[in-house]
Amino acid sequence: MLVLNEMITDEEIRELDDKYSSWGDTVHYSKNPKIFATCEGSYIYDSNDTPYLDLQMMYSSCNFGYKNKRITNAVIHQMNTLPQLTPKFLHRYKALLSKKMADLIEERFNEKGRMHFNVGGAQATEDAIKIVRNYTKRNGFFAFQGGYHGRTIGATALTSSFRYRERYGHFADRANFVPFPYCFRCPYGMKCENCNHFCIKQFARNFESEYKAIYDPKTNECEFKAFIAEPILGTGGYIEAPSWYFKELKEILDAYDIMLVVDEVQMGMYRTGKLWAIENYNVVPDVMTFAKSITNGMNPLSGLWAKEKYIAPDVFTPGSAHSTYCTNPIGIRAAHEVISIVEEEQNDFEREIPRKSAKFMEGLNFLKNKYACIGDVGGIGFALRIELTQNDGFTPNRKLCDAIQEEGLKGDLNYKGKRCGLVLNNGGFYKNIVTLVPQLYITDEQIDMAIELLDQLFSRLTR
Ligand SMILES: Cc1ncc(COP(=O)(O)O)c(C=O)c1O
Repeated sequence: MLVLNEMITDEEIRELDDKYSSWGDTVHYSKNPKIFATCEGSYIYDSNDTPYLDLQMMYSSCNFGYKNKRITNAVIHQMNTLPQLTPKFLHRYKALLSKKMADLIEERFNEKGRMHFNVGGAQATEDAIKIVRNYTKRNGFFAFQGGYHGRTIGATALTSSFRYRERYGHFADRANFVPFPYCFRCPYGMKCENCNHFCIKQFARNFESEYKAIYDPKTNECEFKAFIAEPILGTGGYIEAPSWYFKELKEILDAYDIMLVVDEVQMGMYRTGKLWAIENYNVVPDVMTFAKSITNGMNPLSGLWAKEKYIAPDVFTPGSAHSTYCTNPIGIRAAHEVISIVEEEQNDFEREIPRKSAKFMEGLNFLKNKYACIGDVGGIGFALRIELTQNDGFTPNRKLCDAIQEEGLKGDLNYKGKRCGLVLNNGGFYKNIVTLVPQLYITDEQIDMAIELLDQLFSRLTR
């Protein structure tokens, strides 16, 4: 038992937080936030040491498992050598990390570029906005309905939910939001078997006439000079675009000189079985942001890669973007270790993630056949989803989605005679999608356990 538990109960922790912390963060979405004490591998443990199989992994920040020993040891070494440094000075791991990442990206995209670091996904979005504005001298972005890019003011302007802007004044730079190709619920009411790529054709029609309000055919200038896109919607419900979508989108963007900024904050770092989710679509971005699992959820670090012409030293000049913490040695060292793991294990990831993903999907299809409230299952790699519906297989069922998460957190499920819990997250346009985000090293047995625990939850809640 932790020493902490001898001094303070879970109830007292909640009371203190209610009284002394802002309720503006997301903890207070819940009246009774769950408290956890320790973690290891695929599990987090409550104060009674009950294990909870975690299928959200800090919103996809811990792809390499909780308390990954290699990363922890690298961070401890950094703590004991150079834990702090003013960002105007260099330290070896910053340069090494830049080289390793730029090389890995060049291998995949056959493009030279540079790395720029900051802390947090939203800040990476902010820096991407700066790269675009600096190069194009325009503010306008396209973004997806259902997209999420962070909650700073600039990132909020590119995030579709009005809920995040509602109380903060007028957003002059609010993006032009484009429907995401969510085929199960096609925004145009089409069926993918015979849609003939209707959504991308609709996007192309924006450039037919000046009266479509975004483009001047006389000058070939578009008011929106970049499109920020998650290749697979994260917060939007782990929804993948059809295989042809991004190639066709990029052709249109290139024709009108519009940059593609890919947000890999949630789907990068092998979440989809590829280092970057956009690789699934054979498209090369102009700018690409990353965060979360770049440090495996340790000391924050985020950043972006941009093609050389957008980020060359004479274009993105010294001091263009900065935070006191932007090259903090502990975050950089954690990221350096993560990238070393990627270099060494990339072949294993590329073989094992699709295999285990297929096993997981088999279990999800078994559940779909068993429970009428599962309208759809899908995803790529370890970015999987269960879409919960009424028994008609289509009408979104948010209530069940909320209930299943709460039930999993009770910690009273049973696996092979042992008490345990299940940690799930939800997303989607109707908040009715259970998103499944295991660590990349999840074992075959833990996948069986996940399906068994989901089965127990569905059978409890749909009886
Ligand atoms: C796709 C995407 N972009 C940006 C962000 C913002 O990252 P952060 O929460 O670190 O600011 C998130 C966070 O969930 C995200 O999923």
